[in-house]
Amino acid sequence: MSSIVEKTAVGQAIDRVEGHLKVTGKAKYASEFPVPNKVYAQGINSTISKGEIVSIDTSEAEKQEGVLKVITHQNAEKLKTFEEEPAAISTDSIAPVLQDHKVHYYGQYIGVVIAETFEQAQYAARLVKVEYRKEASPAIIFEKNKDKAYRPKESSDYSRGDLEKGLSEADEIIDAVYNTPIEHHHPMELHALIASWENGGVTAYASQQMVEDATIAISETFQIPQEKVRVIAAFVGGGFGSKLKVERQVILATMASKMIGRPVQMTVTRHQMFTNTGMRQRNEQHMRIGAKKDGTLTSLAHETLSHTSINEEFQESCGMVSKMLYKVPNNLVTHRLMPMNLQTPFAMRAPGEATGSFALECAMDEMAWKLKMDPIDFRIKNDTQTDLSEDQPFSSRLLVECLRIGAEKFGWEKRNMKPRTNKEGNWLKGYGVSAASRNSPYKETHSKVILKQHKDLMEATIRMDATDIGTGSYTIIAQTAAEYLKIPVEQVSVELGDSDFPVTPGSGGSWGAASYCNGARAACEKALQELKKKLNIPDAEEVPVAELLQKNNLMEYEAEGSAKPSEEFEKHSVYSFGANFCEVWVDKDTGMWRINRMVNVGSAGRILNPKTAYGQIIGGLTMGAGMALAEQTRVEPNFGNFITRSFADYHVPVNLDLAQIDVIFLPEEDKIANKMGIKGIGELGITSVAASIGNAIFNATGKRMRDLPITPEKLITAPLEPGVQA
Ligand code: MOS
Repeated sequence: MSSIVEKTAVGQAIDRVEGHLKVTGKAKYASEFPVPNKVYAQGINSTISKGEIVSIDTSEAEKQEGVLKVITHQNAEKLKTFEEEPAAISTDSIAPVLQDHKVHYYGQYIGVVIAETFEQAQYAARLVKVEYRKEASPAIIFEKNKDKAYRPKESSDYSRGDLEKGLSEADEIIDAVYNTPIEHHHPMELHALIASWENGGVTAYASQQMVEDATIAISETFQIPQEKVRVIAAFVGGGFGSKLKVERQVILATMASKMIGRPVQMTVTRHQMFTNTGMRQRNEQHMRIGAKKDGTLTSLAHETLSHTSINEEFQESCGMVSKMLYKVPNNLVTHRLMPMNLQTPFAMRAPGEATGSFALECAMDEMAWKLKMDPIDFRIKNDTQTDLSEDQPFSSRLLVECLRIGAEKFGWEKRNMKPRTNKEGNWLKGYGVSAASRNSPYKETHSKVILKQHKDLMEATIRMDATDIGTGSYTIIAQTAAEYLKIPVEQVSVELGDSDFPVTPGSGGSWGAASYCNGARAACEKALQELKKKLNIPDAEEVPVAELLQKNNLMEYEAEGSAKPSEEFEKHSVYSFGANFCEVWVDKDTGMWRINRMVNVGSAGRILNPKTAYGQIIGGLTMGAGMALAEQTRVEPNFGNFITRSFADYHVPVNLDLAQIDVIFLPEEDKIANKMGIKGIGELGITSVAASIGNAIFNATGKRMRDLPITPEKLITAPLEPGVQA
C-alpha cells in the first residue's frame, strides 16, 4: 500500500488524471453541454473604428428561416454601464455591450443574431445593413498618438534613490528603446458559452479561467444578485489570460437568452478572437542603465508607453521586473497610456514580465557587452536577496544557482564574447542568456472533501470552483489529496469549475497551483482532524482515513477547509526565478535564423508533478519563442482593423521552430510561500525567453534587435553595433 502512495503522491510525474476524458472526447468544454432546446448566436462586428451607427436595418436578416431575433443597441436590454471613462478594468469588471450607438474600435460588437442553427445565425448576420457616420482621424497608429499619453488612474509609477545622480556616477550608460507589438493569445478552444436564463438568473457553461469573478461580472452587468448566476467551466481549452474576465459574448448570449426565453450558445470565431477577446498591447519601453566599470549597477530606469482603449483602462506593468530583480540603489519605473481606437488590451501570459523582461534583460546584455563582462557574471554581481522595491527579503531566491547550473548544462564556457566568431558554413552561431523572475502569488482558497467508504475501498472527492485551463489542476489537486489522506491517487476524484463549489481565486497570475493545492490540503487536514477529534485521538497520531471512518461508524464524511497566505508570506517577496539559455543559428546572407536549443532552469519551490510542470515551461518557452520569431498583430493604418486575422498570417511557432529543449527544476524548499512550498510556474516559462534569443542573435551577428518580432528582413538590414567586427 505505501509503495502505491509514494508512486502517486505529490512530486511524482503521473499522467493527467483527466487525460482519458480528453482523448476520448468525454471531457465537456463549454459549447459541448447537451443543453436541450438551445439556439445559436452570432455576433456582428463594426466595420469602422470611430463614429456612430446612424441606422441598422435588420429586416432582411429577421426574414430568414430559423432566425428568432436580432439584437442591436435599438432593442438591447439596459445594462449597467461605466460611471466614468476610461474605466479601470480587472478580472471581475462589468462588460456593457450594445448600450448606445457609438463605435470605439473596428470589430466592436454592434449586434447579435439568434437562430435555430449556427449556420442560420451566421448567414443572417451578414444580411444586417448598417449605416455609419464615421468620425475623422481615429487613433489607430501608435506613433502618431504619443502626445496623448497620460498617467493611468491606477498608476504603478515607482522610484527609489535618485536616478539622475546614479546615472551621473556611472562609467557606462545604456540608453535604448525596445518595442514589442500587439499579440494575441489564441487558445485552442475558442471562447464559447451556453447561457440559459431562468427565474431571474442565469446558468452559463462558459470557457472562463475564473469562475467566481465571472459570476460577479455577470451579476453586476445585469444587476442581479450573485447567487442568481451559476458559471460552469469544467474544462477550459487554454486561456493565457484571454478568459480571465468575461468578454462581451458572455453578456450577449445571456441577454439573448433572457430576451427569447431559450438557452443560447455563442462561439466566437477565430477571426473574432482578434477583435473581441483581449490582446497584449503594443509597448515602447525606454531603458536607461548606469554601471560602474566593475559591473556595479548605479541606476536603472524603465519607462513604458502603451495604449488602452477609448473607454476602458488597462496597463501592462512592464516595469515591475526592473524594481526588484537587481541590487540597484537608484530606480525609476513609469507607465503611460494613450487612448486608441482599438479594443481594450488585457492580460496575456505573464503580463508585464513577458515584455518587461525582454527590455530589461536585453539592456543588461547590452551593458555587459559594453563593460566587456560576461553577462552571467554581470548579473551575479548585481544579485540581491532583498526586494529593494518592498524593502523585504525574498522568501527564497536561487537565481544565481539557476544561472550557474544552466551555464554548465548549456555549455556556456564555449561561448565567445566576440560576436560573429562562431561560424559554420553560412551560419553565424550565437549563445544568449537571460534571467527570469515572476511574482508567485497565493490567494485564499476554499475546498470541500467528501470521503466515502465502499467495502474496503476508500474514496475521496475534492470539490472547488477552480479551473483547469490545460495546466494540470485536476492532476495536482488529486495528488495533493492522495498525499494528505494517504490513499492512492486512483481513489481520488476531483470536481472543478462550478460556481456552486467552494470559492477559489481561479486560474490566473500563476497562483493556481499554490492556492488550489493548499486549499485541498486544508480540506483533507480538516477532515482528518474532525474525525480524530470525535474519537479523542490526538491530532499528531497517524491513523488511516478508512479506519477513522470505520471507528466513527461512518460510511461518508464531508469537510470544508480553506487556506490563505500567512503573516510571514506578507513580510516577504515571494517570487519564482529562472534562467534561459539559447543557441541560435543565423544565415549570414538571408537573415533567416533558427533556435537550435534552449535550456531553462527554474527555482519554483516544490514541483508537484514534473510532467505537468514541464508542460507549463515548454508552453512558456514556445510562447517566448513566438514573441521573438514571428508573433505580431498588425493594425491596418487607415481603417483600424487587424490585417493579421487568422493563423495564416498570425504566425505561432511549430515544432520545427523549436529544437532541443532542456528544462531543469532546482530543488527548493520554501515554507514561507505556503505550507506546501509551492510557487508559480505558469508564467515563469515565458519570462525573458525573447531576451535570451535576442541576446543570442547579438552574439551570433553583432546586431542588437530591439523590436520584436525579429524577422529576417529586420535582421538583415540592421546595423552592426559599434565595436563589432564584420
Ligand atoms: Mo494569466 S495572463 O493571469 O492567464
